[in-house]
Amino acid sequence: MWSGRFREPLDRTFEQWQRSFPFDWRLLPQEVAASKAHAQAIAAAGILTPEELAKTLDGLTRVGERALNWAHRISATSGEVDYETSNQQIGAAIVASAPQAEDIHHYVELELTKEIGALALKLHTGRSRNEQIATDMRLFVRDSIDATITGLTRWALSLITLAESNPDAVMPGYTHLQRAEPVLIAHWLLAYVSMIERDLSRFTDARTRMNFCPLGSGAIAGATLALDRTIAARALAFTAPTSNSMDATSDRDFMLDFAQAASTLGLHISRFAEELTLYATAEFSFIDLPEAFSTGSSAMPQKKNPDLTELARGKSARLLGSATALATLVKGLPLAYNKDLQEGQEQIFDVADTLAGLLSVLPNFTRALKFRHAKMKEAAQTGYLNAMAGATYLSNKGLAFRKAHEVIGNAVRLGLDLNLELNAIPLAELQKLSDYFDEAFFAAISLNATVDCHAVPGGTATSQVHESLTSAKHRISTLYTLPTTPWEPEASTHG
Ligand code: ARG
Repeated sequence: MWSGRFREPLDRTFEQWQRSFPFDWRLLPQEVAASKAHAQAIAAAGILTPEELAKTLDGLTRVGERALNWAHRISATSGEVDYETSNQQIGAAIVASAPQAEDIHHYVELELTKEIGALALKLHTGRSRNEQIATDMRLFVRDSIDATITGLTRWALSLITLAESNPDAVMPGYTHLQRAEPVLIAHWLLAYVSMIERDLSRFTDARTRMNFCPLGSGAIAGATLALDRTIAARALAFTAPTSNSMDATSDRDFMLDFAQAASTLGLHISRFAEELTLYATAEFSFIDLPEAFSTGSSAMPQKKNPDLTELARGKSARLLGSATALATLVKGLPLAYNKDLQEGQEQIFDVADTLAGLLSVLPNFTRALKFRHAKMKEAAQTGYLNAMAGATYLSNKGLAFRKAHEVIGNAVRLGLDLNLELNAIPLAELQKLSDYFDEAFFAAISLNATVDCHAVPGGTATSQVHESLTSAKHRISTLYTLPTTPWEPEASTHG
């Protein structure tokens, strides 16, 4: 591919070590698509005749299809394969089939030569691997973003379904992991929907920002042919060509954006997983873990372990690790392309696989969750969670809130001494603390009233939560109507 100026052969160990084909074979669909787009651009510039273009496009299709055939053959022989195993198997087969290939670009050229002969060598006119890898990675990240948006939408909708099937049930809400105020289970679930909505907007935003086409940037300074760069950009459904060749060939912000959005999502998943792990303990007993998503212990016959949530919590470490590795990789790199950048690919593949894995299990797991309503209700009613509602009642009657807070504090202290919840303390005893207490106080601190007094938008009052449910469902299902098919150019506005 580049040995013309070399007198000595490469050290074999070094040559093997510097290859990216063992992992960048995954970019085959992207490399094929980008090569087809480039072929169209150089044909328009007169480098390929219409017949040569047709032959080249056809050859590229066949090169791409071969991998798919492998995929099919392998999944046909091993039945239901999990996506990672099958990826590994396909990869191993492709890599073994091309012992000469240094990277995916080299591989496609070698394979295309088998298909269409020497004509294949014309394809590299006016392009460089530096712009190719930048393009392939953008396409890969864009696909991964689309898949993530689809998966996240599914997960959000499953949280909403779970919330809808628990419309009025209560649980204790915690601050400092101490019981604070009762909330609806649906309200708690919708907190995660809010996080997911921000994640969705981060991924969508990253997609918009990255959707520009590096093809035509050459190795660093721009193509040496007068290419119409909009041809390739349009063929690949990019918004427009990138605007600076040095930036385009060395920019990896789009990978960083994706990995960083993924790690923030990972943090949300990890918080959810942590709460469920905790709520499934005997100490909390709020949740009955679905058996289909739990594991046993080979040593202790009684165990039902929350492996799914533990592993989900653990995966967030990986996502953060990748984002950190990518940032570290780019920091201090001089312009433009440097081989260091090759190291970023595996981080992105790992982020994409990790997200795909998480989002393949979370929706069904979420839908299968069963709450122990009686247990949660009891917990929501014990420990003076209605103290705030009580203070609010007194302040509504005209007592300054600071004062009301103190009076209820005294009532709680009395309750602790008598081992009674607020609503079980006789009115006469309460009235010794303040004459603002009256019979209606007890209705104001009932469980329902304690929940429903939070009747602001975004609060846990039943009516508010039901509205939030409806609007979240509407927003998510109308805004994110994916999947889009990755290789079908949508109506693009290029400029
Ligand atoms: N495999 C290389 C990578 O992933 C492709 C670009 C190689 N460019 C170069 N100038 N050596 O970065």
